Amino acid sequence: MTPARTVMVTGGAGFIGANFVRYWSEHYPSDRIIVLDALTYAGNLANLESVSELQNYRFVHGNILDVAVIDELMLEEQVDTIVHFAAESHVDRSIHEPDAFIQTNVIGTNNLLMAARKHWIDSDSAPATHLFHHVSTDEVYGTLGPDDPAFTEQTLYAPNSPYAASKAASDHLVRSYHHTYGMQVTTSNCSNNYGPYQFPEKLIPLMIVNAVTGKPLPVYGDGSNIRDWLYVEDHCRGIDLVMNKGRRGATYNIGGNNEWRNIDIVNQLCKSIDAAVAADDRLAGQFPDAPAASGKKTGSLIAFVKDRLGHDWRYAIDATLAETELGYKPLEDFESGFQLTLTWMLNNEAWWRAVMDGSYRNWISKNYSADD
Ligand code: NAD
Ligand code: DAU
Repeated sequence: MTPARTVMVTGGAGFIGANFVRYWSEHYPSDRIIVLDALTYAGNLANLESVSELQNYRFVHGNILDVAVIDELMLEEQVDTIVHFAAESHVDRSIHEPDAFIQTNVIGTNNLLMAARKHWIDSDSAPATHLFHHVSTDEVYGTLGPDDPAFTEQTLYAPNSPYAASKAASDHLVRSYHHTYGMQVTTSNCSNNYGPYQFPEKLIPLMIVNAVTGKPLPVYGDGSNIRDWLYVEDHCRGIDLVMNKGRRGATYNIGGNNEWRNIDIVNQLCKSIDAAVAADDRLAGQFPDAPAASGKKTGSLIAFVKDRLGHDWRYAIDATLAETELGYKPLEDFESGFQLTLTWMLNNEAWWRAVMDGSYRNWISKNYSADD
């Protein structure tokens, strides 16, 4: 059995981070979990409500750009494991404001690595073992044509958006700390996630919210772009396997083997919402502005809009390495994962309304000071 660890999860109040904290607390209840999160627009304490009372859990409102905060926390909590999710994560935002992506994703990652080096490698009281796990993306590999083989760990980096470039830079920094200082690191590069608590700026939750509130469903370009979709809990299980069984210094691709064209996802989503409303009268009362509430097709909301600048055409992950070395295999296919997500979104209207109308943000600034 692995001895109890003190795990610092950066970005643990975001979508994947919060799902990971819940997953980790269930699978490794003896581990202490410290969430370090700046609570940007994407971070939300409501995502962590189910773990907030656990004894082995602490939330720290802090920024990975603040070297002193990281340093103090590493020392005070004797952190021996870092799982690094904190990032600016939305490609469209990176096209408009790249600077925040360079700050958090590049400088912030380096701050964490410098603190880890100080406490784990240069210190006389370094823990017996340590691990820095870096959560990255398939976008570092660039884009694929229709007949190209899926991304492997050997695919050359060719990031196309400022977001992807900032994540690529952070991957290289993590690798260099292993090579140069002998830091024990692992990296996972994952495909598109979906599931509970995803901020409704990303394709699937945005389309669900717009569909039930009667707003247009904006499909970029002609909708032919392809993404490889993975249910968020399968990503968390993949990270667990990489952390516990992965070779130190190695990177592993994690994916769902689930390539879909955007337009097919949106059409599928429209059909599922039509079926859900037809099957449950209460939904028509709850969402009176949804076309399905008055017997119309949700698909009537689809609107083809101007394409994203530099829009990558296709991503696909080859997860053979993780499958053969670590025994990784996703449990959800797109049908089952999407149904779980849709049901969660329909049952959690208060959550998405709060994050979208900013009332949560106002609550945070009133109730949380920067040193909490
Ligand atoms: P998210 O945007 O939902 O959450 C990011 C979290 O990081 C938020 O809680 C935010 O408050 C926090 N954060 C941002 N800047 C910070 C800073 N300077 N200091 C401290 N905290 C900060 O992101 P997500 O979709 O959950 O993605 C998490 C990680 O997984 C990212 O590193 C992303 O690159 C990677 N990833 C995401 C996907 C995906 O499909 N969403 C796929 C592969 C990899
Ligand atoms: O591949 C992993 C990446 O997946 C992660 O690293 C990123 O953090 C995550 O945001 C995601 O990036 P994408 O750009 O692929 O995700 P997004 O949900 O923004 O868009 C998915 C596809 O849908 C993409 O081709 C753009 C398109 N799209 C998106 C939005 C928000 C639309 O057509 N309309 C939209 O309104």
